[in-house]
Amino acid sequence: MKKNIKVVVNGQAYEKEVAVQKTLLDFLREDLNLTGTKKGCDNGDCGSCTVLLNGKAVSSCIMLAVEADQCEVLTIEGMSRGEQLHPIQTAFIESGAIQCGYCTPGMVMAAKALLDVNPRPSESEIREAIAGHLCRCTGYDQIVKAIKMAADYLNARERSC
Ligand code: FES
Ligand code: FES
Repeated sequence: MKKNIKVVVNGQAYEKEVAVQKTLLDFLREDLNLTGTKKGCDNGDCGSCTVLLNGKAVSSCIMLAVEADQCEVLTIEGMSRGEQLHPIQTAFIESGAIQCGYCTPGMVMAAKALLDVNPRPSESEIREAIAGHLCRCTGYDQIVKAIKMAADYLNARERSC
């Protein structure tokens, strides 16, 4: 069975017919060709598929596309402005937090969800925000450092406006 959905993804409005059992992750990757959101476990356990749904971080592999009907979705492709990276992306690069690369889009989106509501998070709040993201390589210290740096960049930008 299929259903018509209207969704705004990265600021662009779409109206699409989707199978009711299709996940939001597969919809983004297959129907919209937004492959920056990664499929890791496909089971809600790793965080690779994290996107923002109406500003909240969600695992898109365990959500149906039809659940995003009338919602706004932000994916990693919507973070930069053309060639200009988002300060969170810059901080990840400068802190050496881009490790295997597969997990990075989800970590960046989790950081965005956190910093949007908590511009000055403590280290424990940062660790809590990324607790659902599995990293099997060098660990989380660089990622925590990157999110702290991103908070500084965003707060400095705020002050200069
Ligand atoms: S792919 Fe969605 S949580 Fe792992
Ligand atoms: S960042 Fe992907 S396994 Fe560590």
